[in-house]
Amino acid sequence: MHEDQLLLLLLLLLLPRSFSSSVENNQCTTSCGKVTNISYPFRLRGDPMVCGNPNYELACVDNRTIIDLYSSKYYVRSIDYNNYTIRIADVDLQKGNCSSLPLRSLLCSFFNYSSDLYRCGRYMINDPESSKTVSIVNWTKAVASRLYIDASSCLDGVEISNFSSTRRQLYAMVEANVSNVESECTIEYMAMIPGWADGDNLRSFAQIHDLMVYGFELSWFPIACKMYCKDYYVCDINHKNQIQCSAKKGKGF
Ligand SMILES: *[C@@H]1O[C@H](CO)[C@@H](O)[C@H](O)[C@H]1NC(C)=O
Ligand SMILES: *[C@@H]1O[C@H](CO)[C@@H](O)[C@H](O)[C@H]1NC(C)=O
Ligand SMILES: *[C@@H]1O[C@H](CO)[C@@H](O)[C@H](O)[C@H]1NC(C)=O
Ligand SMILES: *[C@@H]1O[C@H](CO)[C@@H](O)[C@H](O)[C@H]1NC(C)=O
Ligand SMILES: *[C@@H]1O[C@H](CO)[C@@H](O)[C@H](O)[C@H]1NC(C)=O
Ligand SMILES: *[C@@H]1O[C@H](CO)[C@@H](O)[C@H](O)[C@H]1NC(C)=O
Ligand SMILES: *[C@@H]1O[C@H](CO)[C@@H](O)[C@H](O)[C@H]1NC(C)=O
Ligand SMILES: *[C@@H]1O[C@H](CO)[C@@H](O)[C@H](O)[C@H]1NC(C)=O
Repeated sequence: MHEDQLLLLLLLLLLPRSFSSSVENNQCTTSCGKVTNISYPFRLRGDPMVCGNPNYELACVDNRTIIDLYSSKYYVRSIDYNNYTIRIADVDLQKGNCSSLPLRSLLCSFFNYSSDLYRCGRYMINDPESSKTVSIVNWTKAVASRLYIDASSCLDGVEISNFSSTRRQLYAMVEANVSNVESECTIEYMAMIPGWADGDNLRSFAQIHDLMVYGFELSWFPIACKMYCKDYYVCDINHKNQIQCSAKKGKGF
C-alpha cells in the first residue's frame, strides 16, 4: 500500500464515527429474531438516530421484535416493503393456548385518517382487505348458528376486561355487524385477524385464536406517501402496490 493511502486510511479510522454515514457503514441493525429485513422507515431502539424514522421505532427484546402501539405491545411477525405492511400480534397471545387474549383490543376503527402513522387497510381507511374483526359475544342462550362459534371451552373462567367469569355463554363472530348480532347478545370483546381469513370456514375458537396469533396487517403507507409525494397533495396506492402522486403543489397560488 502506498504511504499516502495508508495515511488516508489511518485518518479515516481516527475520524469520529458520526462523521461517516451510519447507514452506509451498516451500523443500523437490520435483523432481530425472525424479522430479518428491518430498514427505513423502521428503526431499532438503540441504533444511531440516522437509522429509520423515530416514529417507527421497534425494540429487539430476547430476539423478538416488538412494537408499541397505543399503550399495547405487539410482536412484529413480518414487514413487507413491497406493499407497505407490517404484520403484528399482541404479546399476550400465546400460541396454542386459546385462553390467552390481548388485554386491550386494537381495532380498525381506532385509526384516524390524517393523524396516524399506520392505517388499517391500504386503499381506504378501514379496508377489510387487510384485517378482520372478531367479536366475542355473550349470550345467555345456547345457539346453533354457523355465525356463532362457541368460545366457552377456551374462555370459561378467563377474565375478559372487567367482566366476571360467572354465567355466560361466549361465542366468537367474524366481522359481526349490528344487524346480525342478536339483540340479546352483548359484545364483550373484539380482536383482529388477517383479512384473508374466511369466516365461513372457521369452525372453532382455537382456529380463530391461531389466526390472532398469526397477526393482522397494518399499512405504513402514510410515511411512504410523505416520502414519495412530498410535492403533491394527493397520494394513492394502486393494486400493483405502486404509489401514485397527483395534484402537484403549485407555486405562486
Ligand atoms: C428488504 O427490504 C428492502 C427495501 O427496504 C428490499 O429492497 C429487499 O428486497 C427486502 N428483502 C427481503 C428479503 O425482503
Ligand atoms: C438471538 O438469535 C441469534 C441468531 O439466531 C443467536 O445467536 C442469539 O444467541 C440469540 N440471542 C438470544 C438472546 O436469544
Ligand atoms: C393460557 O392462558 C391463560 C390466560 O392468559 C393463562 O391463565 C394460562 O396459565 C395459560 N396456560 C398455559 C398452559 O400457559
Ligand atoms: C383518533 O382521533 C380521536 C379524536 O381526535 C382520538 O380521540 C383518538 O384517540 C384517535 N385514535 C388514535 C388511535 O390515535
Ligand atoms: C403484503 O405482502 C405479504 C407478503 O407477500 C402478503 O402476505 C400480504 O397479504 C400483503 N398484504 C396486502 C395488503 O397486500
Ligand atoms: C374496568 O376497571 C378499571 C379499573 O379497575 C376501571 O377504571 C374501568 O372504568 C373499568 N371499565 C369498565 C368498562 O367497567
Ligand atoms: C351475559 O349476559 C347476561 C344477560 O344478557 C348477563 O346477565 C351476564 O352478566 C353476562 N355475562 C357476562 C360475563 O358479562
Ligand atoms: C351486515 O349483515 C347483513 C346481514 O348478514 C348484511 O346483509 C350486510 O351487508 C352487513 N353489513 C355490513 C356493513 O357488512
